[in-house]
Amino acid sequence: MADEAKALAEQTGNLPAGIGGAGPRHVAIIMDGNGRWATMRGRPRLFGHHAGARRVREIVRACPDLGVGYLTIFAFSTENWKRTQLEVAGLMALFRSYIRKEARALRDHNVRVRFIGDRPGLDKKLQVQMDELEEMTAHCTGTNLTIALNYGGRDEVARATRRLAEDVAAGRLAPECVDEETLPKYLDTCVLPDPDLVIRTSGEARISNFLLWQSAYAEYEFIDTLWPDFTREVFAGVLENFGSRDRRFGGVKG
Ligand code: FPP
Repeated sequence: MADEAKALAEQTGNLPAGIGGAGPRHVAIIMDGNGRWATMRGRPRLFGHHAGARRVREIVRACPDLGVGYLTIFAFSTENWKRTQLEVAGLMALFRSYIRKEARALRDHNVRVRFIGDRPGLDKKLQVQMDELEEMTAHCTGTNLTIALNYGGRDEVARATRRLAEDVAAGRLAPECVDEETLPKYLDTCVLPDPDLVIRTSGEARISNFLLWQSAYAEYEFIDTLWPDFTREVFAGVLENFGSRDRRFGGVKG
């Protein structure tokens, strides 16, 4: 194992995934292609988002069998407000109905749900549902599902920096203590390990402001499959590819 990877393992108390043939512990997914999937079928874009939500259900359920302990999904970005009012309203209604319909099943499947993103920017009723789902699954010890809602990586770093600056101004944090270890404690993802693998569906090869800080050493997989076609078999295939990656974390081959 490369020295830097070893050092990282010691720092985090965990063996980084992908070393010694292990699968990814934390997978993050940019679920793209719902709109195109619907358009190809002559249906409105929201039809694709509903199909996408059914796929979310399937992929979350597949995680324990596939050895994925942490799954983070990009559901709505800080930039997605630029879509038509009809689509934004439809997506918000879909998130609310997903939480309402899935809450019990998530708890019963031992899934711990967390949300990241700028919550105050969301509808109050949705915020309440999000808080309730987090509370209801707080004791769950299986899959850690994180849903990024009204999330943007730059926005997250800006919000974290603001809170960090408040702590410095109030004398709770010395400026010389601000380093690579301190800053992530202020991020929305402070309790999560960094993603090992970031998948984007639909053939687009960009990261669109997703987990900018956290994915510094993530492996990326851009696949052509549109999100509503992303079955558990496709997921398993992507995870298998990850096993053959040579992760060096900036070091050299050990
Ligand atoms: C991007 O594809 C997708 C989104 C902005 C929404 C993602 C939402 C879901 C998968 C629905 C359900 C999620 C949860 C958590 C219940 P796009 O529609 O922009 O695709 P396009 O590029 O083909 O237009």
